Amino acid sequence: TEPLRLGIAGLGTVGAGVIKIIRQKATLLAERSGRPIVISAVAARNRDKDRGVSLAGYAWEDDAVALAVRDDVDVFVELMGGSDGPAKAATEAALAAGKDVVTANKAMLAHHGQALAQLAEDKGCVLRFEAAVAGGIPVIKALTEGLAGNDIGRVMGVMNGTCNYILTRMESAGLTYDQAFDEADKLGYLEADPNLDVGGIDAGHKLSLLAAIAYGTQVAFDAVELEGIGKVSIDDIRQAADMGYKIKLLGVCRMTGRGLEQRMAPCLVPATSPLGQLDGGTNMVVIEGDQVGQIVMRGAGAGEGPTASAVMGDVLDIARGTRLSTFGQPASSLKPVTPSRVASP
Ligand code: NDP
Ligand code: HSE
Repeated sequence: TEPLRLGIAGLGTVGAGVIKIIRQKATLLAERSGRPIVISAVAARNRDKDRGVSLAGYAWEDDAVALAVRDDVDVFVELMGGSDGPAKAATEAALAAGKDVVTANKAMLAHHGQALAQLAEDKGCVLRFEAAVAGGIPVIKALTEGLAGNDIGRVMGVMNGTCNYILTRMESAGLTYDQAFDEADKLGYLEADPNLDVGGIDAGHKLSLLAAIAYGTQVAFDAVELEGIGKVSIDDIRQAADMGYKIKLLGVCRMTGRGLEQRMAPCLVPATSPLGQLDGGTNMVVIEGDQVGQIVMRGAGAGEGPTASAVMGDVLDIARGTRLSTFGQPASSLKPVTPSRVASP
């Protein structure tokens, strides 16, 4: 059988995790997808850096665009990050060259998802991003496939592991914001620009992607009402606890008669509720479907193993020949968004 040949750009937390899975589980992956999954070439900035995993046998490219268009690459795996720059240039180059793409990059998709999905459609390519939302939780697959027969009501959840980790550690261990932040950093949760995390922007990116799939709309990150956790103090957390609540960075979206509501902000949730009991880097996504009722998905939202797990799910789908549209329907059929403000959650 023909192998599926990957080119992986970005060898940080997620990239190294993907390579470890491919090296350690070659037999399992080949059995599950019906063909060997191999890495042809990799790219990062620093060729000499120790990645904690062997790169033996892979060609090296300094330039992600050159990697993306190599003849021996069938699928370009973009794990560099950044909404523009090399990630976008290489993704566009890969799609233009007829390569399928797997990415974990919610910033890029929140800003350019519509254009990239359209390019993928025009070129007959697949562009998938399971790892971009809620790390290891297969929420994109759930919305695009398993729940495709439902009208979707609200989609809500805690979608940033860093913020949930910081709030949890401040609340349960009495850590300062800075101490909790440093711990999250050591766990590999942080974005290269941590303001994306604590400013609520990263979680807002994710919410905008879920909304596009749930309601068949174009990605409208600019229309997300955003507030981060920067103004949440220890006193706020203690007062909430005294009243039986916890503070969570909660995202909510829904389609109303007035338009699409999307809001990401710190909210009080009952301490005994599933959301209130969601600790550490864990994420939770709650989806309401008119036929299925409420689905609650909980799991690791960040970190090496969980995120690489989601990337591999997309890679295996491609290896099996699954040709899903990026947002669950043709990009050309996604509707423009009329934004509407969220009523109190
Ligand atoms: P890291 O910062 O750990 O790694 C980024 C990698 O990209 C590094 O290997 C870096 O090279 C490489 N890189 C950066 N710029 C370039 C460039 N111009 N050319 C070639 N390579 C480049 O990031 P993560 O692994 O944490 O994140 C990767 C992506 O996954 C991001 O989009 C992020 O949002 C997303 N993501 C991350 C999660 C996590 O838990 N970490 C979870 C879900 C999604 P070098 O090492 O040489 O500096
Ligand atoms: N920085 C992100 C988080 C990574 O903390 O959730 C996962 O998307």
